[in-house]
Amino acid sequence: MVYDFDTLYPRRRIGASKWHHLTEALSQGNKDVFPFSVADMDFKVAPEIQEALHEAADFAIYGYYHPQPAYYEAVRAWQQRRYGFSCRPEWIVQVPNIVYALYQLVRTFTAPGDAVIVQPPVYPPLFQAAEQQQRHLLVNPLIEGKQQYTMDLADLEVKAADPRARMLILCNPHNPVGRVWLESELLDVWRICRKRDILLVSDEIHADLVFQPHHHTVLAALDQKITDRCIICTAPSKTFNLAGLTNANLMIPNENLRRRYQAAMRKTGIHGTNYFGTVACQAAYEKGESWYQALLAYLAGNRALFAETMQQRIPQLRTFPIEGTYLGWIDMRALTLSGQERLALLQAADLHFTAGEVFGREGAGFERINLALPRQALQSGLDRLAEVVLDTGGLYQQEKKNRPGHA
Ligand SMILES: Cc1ncc(COP(=O)(O)O)c(C=O)c1O
Repeated sequence: MVYDFDTLYPRRRIGASKWHHLTEALSQGNKDVFPFSVADMDFKVAPEIQEALHEAADFAIYGYYHPQPAYYEAVRAWQQRRYGFSCRPEWIVQVPNIVYALYQLVRTFTAPGDAVIVQPPVYPPLFQAAEQQQRHLLVNPLIEGKQQYTMDLADLEVKAADPRARMLILCNPHNPVGRVWLESELLDVWRICRKRDILLVSDEIHADLVFQPHHHTVLAALDQKITDRCIICTAPSKTFNLAGLTNANLMIPNENLRRRYQAAMRKTGIHGTNYFGTVACQAAYEKGESWYQALLAYLAGNRALFAETMQQRIPQLRTFPIEGTYLGWIDMRALTLSGQERLALLQAADLHFTAGEVFGREGAGFERINLALPRQALQSGLDRLAEVVLDTGGLYQQEKKNRPGHA
């Protein structure tokens, strides 16, 4: 089956978040440009999901519901097939979305005054879940290496030894730097956390979006001991473009932890998620394989286009190999612009990325670009970036020449 990822569907009309932000930000009012910000995709979902949703909509009774065993089986089987992780159906806790779950996990398993460890630059809710709930934040910044980012394990030892440390929230694959953590790296994290009895929460929402030869390791699948001492966050929302249907799944193998989490969630008044989200999730995991494989191939093409364009036309801006996620991480520091100047420059070229600063101070001077859109729109954005950077380079040379004392 051939799927269409090339048609341009501007989503302004339906209030899609990234188009909504774009409307506010566009300087020149060019309504045809695609935004590169919020992490969802500008592709229609798999036909099998559309069919399942049509069927559910046509039934036209939308009362309270309960996910049926087939739902849990679909989630379980996906984990088994993709990652060899033998998740039991009873470990799965359906939640409205991962950000809600992260906040709730912090509330359930830490107390005010405790500390949570995070590894910035990282998706902001991972640190906001601690900061906004009177928990301390212990920052274990990633190391920006020559080729790639790595974890600072020596610093993690120090942070984990802080008597307030109770939880580490891992992002794997890592948004925004695109790393897919190796088994050996995950084992190192586990060894450090085990010594200090720190609970590991692994946000694996981007797990399915990993490019060869890299492969995703479900943290809980690494070792029996880890299975019992970690919580995995997963969802079909990134993979199958379903974020607006608010449905996600935690996998909590430890029964005591699971019961505590479920009791705490009930206390927030949540007693179910979205019917359509449930239908879409089940259809995606049961029938979406062929669309998903086609998506991965298309994203791999966009990723190659991004890497080639950046290397050949804009080598002064450093990028990093994208092992997983559909997000690129661009180092703009060579342009020596302030955050405001950078924003103005990009806006002038109708480029709407996500400013690196939102991922923590470690992201200052960077931009995150979303590559999950029709190639033509990506190409056009990259062309505009190349032009504006060249212009800026020219301006800087000119400015230097004009400075007094310049030979
Ligand atoms: C690492 C990570 N976790 C969670 C989310 C959001 O998940 P949800 O929409 O289920 O709250 C995102 C979205 O970009 C993400 O990148």
